Amino acid sequence: MCVFFGTVLAAIGCLIVAAWFFLFILDSGVLENPKPNQTPMDSAKPTLLWIQSVTALLTGIFLLYVANKQRNNFAVLDLKAKNEQNRYGRVSRILHWTIAIMFISLIPMGIFASMIPEDTEYRNAYYVAHKTIGVTVFLLVLVRLVWNRISKRPALDSSLSPREEKLAHRAHNTLYFMMLAVPITGFMMTSYHGYETYFFFWEMKPLWEESPVYQVWGGFHKYLLPYILYIVLGAHVLGALKHQFIDKHQNAFKRMVS
Ligand code: HEM
Ligand code: HEM
Repeated sequence: MCVFFGTVLAAIGCLIVAAWFFLFILDSGVLENPKPNQTPMDSAKPTLLWIQSVTALLTGIFLLYVANKQRNNFAVLDLKAKNEQNRYGRVSRILHWTIAIMFISLIPMGIFASMIPEDTEYRNAYYVAHKTIGVTVFLLVLVRLVWNRISKRPALDSSLSPREEKLAHRAHNTLYFMMLAVPITGFMMTSYHGYETYFFFWEMKPLWEESPVYQVWGGFHKYLLPYILYIVLGAHVLGALKHQFIDKHQNAFKRMVS
């Protein structure tokens, strides 16, 4: 795919998330009358949704601006399937961006799903979609781990200082951990709570007897992991942008982007 279309696609993705919030969520009445809070931390959910949607809107507008600058660049990347010494190959890039888009969308989707009052007709549709995409992410991460063994990942870019290298390495490892831990804790919470897990049309019954231990898994899936994720993901994305726009070490960003 050429660079211009990649940027346009990313912009459309961000603008869809923003449109979903500003056109549907704000009009749904759920923010004003959500399901009763289970913990005091739940009162932060409307603010979190606002922050995430405004970020999606601003990112979408920024990407449209970038796309406008790239509009004469129809060069198609000459990329091998396997990783090279200094840049990621086609398979790693497709996996990184597919997982990233799904993972990031699941966050506001999960927050909103958990706010919908019990008797709302579309509540179940959100749960089915959230679980289906969540399981898909988990399976894609397994494929990514196998692929990393088949095709060695490139070492970090030489422009990184030793401190940045250490931080980037830790952030990547934590993100791999998160990509497995978040869907697994979601599945454990669901199963111990006595609910089904969905994967498209396949409905998996709970694997265990219903047990209050679901609250522990829920504590991880709903509170601890998302807040750690905000920090690590923020550092990952801002770190990549810093390299591109402040340090002007454009090679680091290009290894995964263009
Ligand atoms: C949407 C914003 C994102 C941007 C701009 C971005 C950018 C990048 C870039 C430039 C790299 C290459 C770093 C290098 O030079 O080695 C990278 C690698 C990586 N990214 Fe992202 N990323 C984003 C989202 C995500 C998300 C949501 C996740 C996971 C949940 C993620 C997980 C990773 C991992 C684990 C690596 C290391 C890849 C490997 O060596 O296997 N990224 N990212
Ligand atoms: C990468 C995958 C996933 C991500 C990023 C993700 C993220 C989230 C987030 C941020 C929430 C909102 C928590 C809250 O504020 O209350 C949530 C809720 C939820 N997630 Fe996930 N999730 C993922 C996968 C899964 C999977 C695989 C399942 C089940 C099989 C699942 C089941 C649920 C359920 C049932 C809720 C709603 C809990 C409630 O109603 O209180 N999630 N998810």
